[in-house]
Amino acid sequence: MQKKIKNQLLIIFGASGDLTKRKLIPAIYNLYSRGFLPENYGVVGVSRTKLSDEDFRKKVVFENEHLKKSNPSPEDLEKFAQLLYYQPIDTALPSDYGILVERLSEINERLDTGDHFTFYLSTPPSLYEIIAKNLSAYELNKPNGGWKRLIIEKPFGYDLDSAQKLNTELLKCFDEEQIYRIDHYLGKETVQNLFVMRFANSIFEPLWNRNFIHRVEITSSESVGVEKRGGYYDKSGALRDMVQNHLLQLVSLVAMEPPTKVDAEEIRNEKLKLFRSIRKMSPAAIRKNVIRGQYLSSNILGEEVKGYREEEGVDPDSRTETYVALKFFIDNWRWAGVPFYVRTGKKLPTRVSEVVIHFKPTHLPLFQNSTVMNSQNMLILRIQPNEGILLKVGLKVPGAGFEVKNANVDFLYSDMSDAYLPEAYERLLLDGMQGDATLYARGDSVEAAWEFITPILKAWEEDPDFPIFGYPAGTWGPENADDLIDGENMIWRYPCANLTNDGLYCEL
Ligand code: BG6
Repeated sequence: MQKKIKNQLLIIFGASGDLTKRKLIPAIYNLYSRGFLPENYGVVGVSRTKLSDEDFRKKVVFENEHLKKSNPSPEDLEKFAQLLYYQPIDTALPSDYGILVERLSEINERLDTGDHFTFYLSTPPSLYEIIAKNLSAYELNKPNGGWKRLIIEKPFGYDLDSAQKLNTELLKCFDEEQIYRIDHYLGKETVQNLFVMRFANSIFEPLWNRNFIHRVEITSSESVGVEKRGGYYDKSGALRDMVQNHLLQLVSLVAMEPPTKVDAEEIRNEKLKLFRSIRKMSPAAIRKNVIRGQYLSSNILGEEVKGYREEEGVDPDSRTETYVALKFFIDNWRWAGVPFYVRTGKKLPTRVSEVVIHFKPTHLPLFQNSTVMNSQNMLILRIQPNEGILLKVGLKVPGAGFEVKNANVDFLYSDMSDAYLPEAYERLLLDGMQGDATLYARGDSVEAAWEFITPILKAWEEDPDFPIFGYPAGTWGPENADDLIDGENMIWRYPCANLTNDGLYCEL
């Protein structure tokens, strides 16, 4: 059962930005329409742009096409808009925080929100430290009357040093218990189900280890390119943008030990242990086990598509990766010797995120027919789209003899007619406003993830000859990535948009 959110103000820094309109306001609206918001509640947008309360309401509610997906009635929109306020300030200017304090205390008093404030930083990361410092200079970090919390958007740091520095600075202003670091993958229902499926069933645990699992494969492919974010992306790249956070979070849920109970600290302790067990790679190992790529112009279904270097905001000589594939090991008793393969990329054939557990083959092949000679059981946990679970098993082809064929046993969320799959931000905001940090990243584990990633970034930086392979937009990335997977006849699973369509007909 969900707890109800306590009375509070949600204060969004960066409120005139894209995320507020695209994700945050629609998520808050859904919480509102599903009855999760308390009686005494308000949202205060803060940003440099000069807007009145009315302008803000118009921009993020009445003229917000992203909100339309929730089919709001005009009356609901009107009522919801009344929860929203706006205060322009220059967030980098300490003296402007006096204005903010006054406005917050006036709204707090009017709405009787008990001095409970959740601050949400959805600004450029360069402002995180400054805002935290200014909030603390005005004692907006102290539980004067009511609690104060700080939710921080990604990216959290640029490498290990910057993440450590950011943690140190934030911890001078807020306690770790007050800080909530967003990784929106953790807000996805199907990602949380990885944890539940592993630990709510007795049948998986005996198999979930080096004795039965041959390898683990995680893919997050996107068909879009960098769109309008070339300026940001060119300084980031796929490893920072997707692997350090989202994909390592998936790895941790697949590979962690069971926590002693379902509790933010216990779960995050286990994740930390797992991150620390990922083997760091030497420059030689990086050369062998990390493949990076960049999309080239191509023609997809008759449409000319730009290459990455031609995108707006991207350096025409850029060596930023839009694709990365890695092979690595987890040095603990459960996973010793089991390779983990992770890949992500932009401008790939389809948008799919999934985890594939490849089980070892039977000890002695009994049924010698060519279709299944090298096949193994596979458990596919589909994060998106066509969310569900697919188990591949060898079954008898009806008729004479013992011909074996791979068959699919599947479960799709869409078959649960009453299943409401909340958007990631909806769940994360709900938890954050309730003070539950289970689905937020803890400072030490963010640093542990950077400890694994930073040597790879360094190896690329220090070796100008480290190859970056071009791949035509709309293809599955550099062919060299196939060589990462060792084992006879073993390749990546090339997923289709539809979880079960992996036969001859594959819809992308
Ligand atoms: C974001 C990245 O964190 O995640 C984007 O910055 C990426 O580049 C996005 O497109 C993917 O999220 P999702 O939920 O669409 O898989």
